[in-house]
Amino acid sequence: MTVTHSSNQEILGREELDDIEAILAVTNTDVDEIEHIVKDNADALFTWDYTLARPALRKLYEKSKNSQWNGATDLAWDTPVDIEKVIADDQANALGFDTEFYADSVVGNWDEAKWQEFGIDQRRWMLSQFLHGEQGALLCTAKITETVPWYDAKLYAAQQVVDEARHVEVFGRYLEEKWEGNFVVNSHLRMLLDDIIEDSRWDMTYLGMQIMVEGLALAAFGFMRQLTTEPLLSQMLRYVMADEARHVAFGVLSLKEVYDGMSDAELKDRQEFAYEAAVRMRDRFLSQEVWELHGVNPRDIVPVVLQDPTRALFQQMLFTKIVPNCKKLGLLDRNESWLRHRFEEMGVIQFEDLEDTGEEYAKFDIEATAEPVAGA
Ligand SMILES: [Fe+2]
Ligand SMILES: [Fe+2]
Repeated sequence: MTVTHSSNQEILGREELDDIEAILAVTNTDVDEIEHIVKDNADALFTWDYTLARPALRKLYEKSKNSQWNGATDLAWDTPVDIEKVIADDQANALGFDTEFYADSVVGNWDEAKWQEFGIDQRRWMLSQFLHGEQGALLCTAKITETVPWYDAKLYAAQQVVDEARHVEVFGRYLEEKWEGNFVVNSHLRMLLDDIIEDSRWDMTYLGMQIMVEGLALAAFGFMRQLTTEPLLSQMLRYVMADEARHVAFGVLSLKEVYDGMSDAELKDRQEFAYEAAVRMRDRFLSQEVWELHGVNPRDIVPVVLQDPTRALFQQMLFTKIVPNCKKLGLLDRNESWLRHRFEEMGVIQFEDLEDTGEEYAKFDIEATAEPVAGA
């Protein structure tokens, strides 16, 4: 029996993937919101089976215990961060906008000082979305600890809760102390986090968070770390990435077992969810709030941004972990390669044969890498 997939309209709320009007219509209606309540719709599950059933997960748990670090004392918080200089230097290092590309657009009259000001807000915005995503991960892993039926996975998930608390701590502190505060959550990201939390099925929390959000974070942190000239940020990202690589591995190892045993109809829902998450994350990187803050109507600039080759490269790079991990889980090619075709449309399928993150975490280990830690 052939499984029928939902339409873009049903999954994304729009028919065309690149419908700019529809993308920009998703805005944050309550920017002063302090608390955001989401129903988590799931049963907490005890297991009385304490035997070791999944050695790969237990190995990850042991690894995690030995890889804890202290966000308050292991990072060089006394590093001075001159945000104007960081943005100027990073800009020269290809982490930012190629302003010449925008010469004929509505921001064609911006001078260097204006781009600098915009660059600072753009960086604050980006780091703030990481901060909010980290909080999403904190709540998701607390949920997984409750909902996953496997003892070995509960142990590991609890370790990850501690990791995520530390990530929220360090991103929050970095923004507060060095970048004069954080930006409100982007609506596309919030919609995605809401969807992940609301789903009652325990594997969906894993898929949304461990595979999609954390897969993207691992790639984005790596990209930023490679290009930034700011030593404290670089050090912080290095520590966080060592944890994130384990988190993605946790998702890959757990879901492989589950998805191998699923029917095509069950897997269809997972493919659609992965697609929805991929699009929401792509949409958020249009950073519409930052343009608005600087007096630019996103409708005038986003079409130009979408044509910018440096941004296109950045967008694609975000999927370097997600695509091979989806392949490993069988999500790309089940049901007549439905997700493969979606990733083709998004222009990211070329990453399918890169290394998946099931074992890759060892490479990110702080102890195992000879590379010196900045500030240490
Ligand atoms: Fe994290
Ligand atoms: Fe994580």
